[in-house]
Amino acid sequence: MDFYDIIHLVMIMSNKFNWAILGCGNIANDFAREMNKMGGKVYSVANRTYEKAIAFADKYNIEKVYENIDDLFEDSNVEIVYIATPHNKHIEYILNALEKGKHVLCEKAITLNSDELNKAVKLANEKNLILAEAMTIYNMPLYTELEKIISSGALGELRLAQVNFGSFKEYDMTNRFFNMDLAGGALLDIGVYALSFVRLFMDTKNAQIHSQVKFAETGADEQSSIIIKNEKEQMASVTLSLHAKQPKRATICYDNAVIEIFEYPRADKAVITYTDDGRTEKIVVGKLEDAMCYEIENMENAVANGINTMKLNYTIDVMNVMTKLRNDWNMKYPEEK
Ligand SMILES: NC(=O)c1ccc[n+]([C@@H]2O[C@H](COP(=O)([O-])OP(=O)(O)OC[C@H]3O[C@@H](n4cnc5c(N)ncnc54)[C@H](OP(=O)(O)O)[C@@H]3O)[C@@H](O)[C@H]2O)c1
Repeated sequence: MDFYDIIHLVMIMSNKFNWAILGCGNIANDFAREMNKMGGKVYSVANRTYEKAIAFADKYNIEKVYENIDDLFEDSNVEIVYIATPHNKHIEYILNALEKGKHVLCEKAITLNSDELNKAVKLANEKNLILAEAMTIYNMPLYTELEKIISSGALGELRLAQVNFGSFKEYDMTNRFFNMDLAGGALLDIGVYALSFVRLFMDTKNAQIHSQVKFAETGADEQSSIIIKNEKEQMASVTLSLHAKQPKRATICYDNAVIEIFEYPRADKAVITYTDDGRTEKIVVGKLEDAMCYEIENMENAVANGINTMKLNYTIDVMNVMTKLRNDWNMKYPEEK
């Protein structure tokens, strides 16, 4: 049992809150499964289609199912709401939950744009509640370990990063990947991972952003290349596609070494290659299959301590970048017209 396993165990046994899940799709199933694995408590569930919520509650041993989504917000026993609906429904549910005094962990992309996110952050601050995006990258112990190595100065200064995410989705313009009515497009769906990764490693937020984009027939961004430079002249390039498979690979280049990570949204290993003699060092920390457990633990810890340690400031920076990119592309969702 290593250091992170012990911390993990202590946290599992300490904080317990009444969680409500909103949505019963793919990621909500993963979340409930992980909660059960941790011995955590999913108190209740709500979904647009009530029958699916009933089946979901049966499957994961959840005691309460609401007939209407609004009933979830009225339930004073609910302490944290996990939102797992398409992105365009996030802001409405975030505001409803915060308004009723509940902490919120919301799936990525947390909102459609910065205006929505600013509104949510303002309300969370006014109500003294924790608001966070369910961004696995911000919670993986591997990155905490890499941050320690980087801040020791051993690798020197960050120069540039290259981050890819390409996933091959069949051309079905009705599904949530391409459908503008479901906030489709690569940027909000997978670009948010690549940009969150870049933000985590860069010393300051991104100042200059350029891009090329190719649209699907619906007007959703199918593919793009993004080039970023921050105030310290650290640079990053990001390549996204919803119709071409690319390895989820990140390389981060420093004066003295390069860090390589595969499957970076949920990674537990990285390889550092030193420039002077080519020697390599493998860093293995945490377990990728526990990605959602780390997220849940960190959220519970933030709620217990009353301090937002969920990197909401990075979420805000990334949302600003995505909002600027879609402005450049003149790409608006129906909710924004
Ligand atoms: N963190 C991750 O690794 C990860 C992975 C996948 C997805 N996500 C994010 O999680 C969210 C959900 O994705 P998913 O793949 O789980 O989607 P999904 O399987 O399609 O499930 C969507 C859920 O949202 C509900 N829903 C759909 N449209 C709605 C509407 N207009 N109003 C209210 N509820 C609605 C659906 O209800 P019905 O049962 O009535 O259809 C269903 O419960 C997205 O924001 C996505 O980006 C995150």
